Amino acid sequence: MKYEIKPPPALKKEIKVPPDKSISHRAVMLSSLCKGKTVIKPFLKSDDTLATLHCMSRLGVNTYLKDYELVIEGSGLQFPCNNAVRLYAQDSGTTMRILSGLLCAQKIPSIFEASPSLERRPMKRITIPLRMMGANIEGKRKGSNEYPPLTIIPVKKLKGIKYALAVASAQVKSAIMLAALYADKPTTISEPFQSRDHTERMLKLFKARIRKKGKAIICQPTKNLISPKKVFIPGDFSSASFFIILGLILKNSQLRIKNVNINPTRCGLLKVLKRMGANIRIVNKKGGYEPYADIIVKSSKLKATKVAEKEIPLMIDEIPILCVAAAFAKGKTIINGVEELVIKETNRVSSMIFNLLKAGVKVGTLTYPKKSAKQHVMLSVEGKKQFKAADFKSFNDHRTAMSMVIFAMAAQKSFTIDNIKCINKSFPEFIPLINSLY
Ligand code: S3P
Repeated sequence: MKYEIKPPPALKKEIKVPPDKSISHRAVMLSSLCKGKTVIKPFLKSDDTLATLHCMSRLGVNTYLKDYELVIEGSGLQFPCNNAVRLYAQDSGTTMRILSGLLCAQKIPSIFEASPSLERRPMKRITIPLRMMGANIEGKRKGSNEYPPLTIIPVKKLKGIKYALAVASAQVKSAIMLAALYADKPTTISEPFQSRDHTERMLKLFKARIRKKGKAIICQPTKNLISPKKVFIPGDFSSASFFIILGLILKNSQLRIKNVNINPTRCGLLKVLKRMGANIRIVNKKGGYEPYADIIVKSSKLKATKVAEKEIPLMIDEIPILCVAAAFAKGKTIINGVEELVIKETNRVSSMIFNLLKAGVKVGTLTYPKKSAKQHVMLSVEGKKQFKAADFKSFNDHRTAMSMVIFAMAAQKSFTIDNIKCINKSFPEFIPLINSLY
């Protein structure tokens, strides 16, 4: 069913966004590896995080979910399940990639299946390093890559390795770090640019021995993880980013978004927005293993900027909403190094170009350097003041859908979007929260 978006009034509101998705996945996985109970509160109840939780139940872990409180009762580094297991990651790339690191070290075989959308996403980036560690993991081979389903067969031991990631990816880094807990000697991981470090922080919280040496991460094997008993999960910066941009591009408005995770490896967008002239204040800073704060944004006259390749991993999920900010800014914004967006839930470069073009925004893309095995993608967006009313398409991608809802609200015309069900992947309260602003 088509969803209609009407122009909202000027806003002066205080809002809350749901708990962080990346941290919720990790909290469930690490708690499941501990002996005894861990209370995770608040826990994000979304399609993706529930997919991880469902996998844990299939692996024999006791889980009790009531409202936003999740209790996990594990029995140690080996999951309780004694038989071969068939798991389903649904649409969740994070579930499949990170959990595979743990499955490779289990004493039971597993088959890890995915939805048709996740079946199109490459898995060689995890199977290669995990096989280097001695794991027996195979994806379905197509062309030069591997895809879900993954078949994992137990091995006697895993080896500690030195591994340099070709692409900055928190999912890949995390799969290796989790397998490294079971290895015969330390594992050293490096990545071309820093990606989100939630796994490193959470492993420390669960008393794993993990440290940084220069840019490398050194992960020691362990016999057990120790639960902190309670895990608090702050608001998701990626979910907050839609409201950060809304507050900036909607006239005469101010929004305060409470208790948002401000881990520097997640908030690259803030730096870029400040360069664009955004009025943003971070107040009421707090924190434990993850820092969080209130973010206050006010309507701002934005100007175009250039985003460098190394900034992308720090804002990988915020590029669609940055494109929306750029469409409202003065001048042409250039975003370099967005090739990883092509292999997200949908091709987010194409989905954003399709929608912005429909609204009359000039957008462009360029592949560079011309004669190179490793090609980068650049995206350009030219800002405007007036837009054309249009029917948008989400391409079944939650971040494209939410970005276009925000665009439509600020463009002050009537727009529709074809399918917003996909938003449940990360932010089931998004539409009710939007409705509460009118
Ligand atoms: C995630 C890492 C990122 C991000 C995804 C969540 C994570 O993916 O896009 O939404 O929780 O580790 P990559 O590791 O592919 O960059």
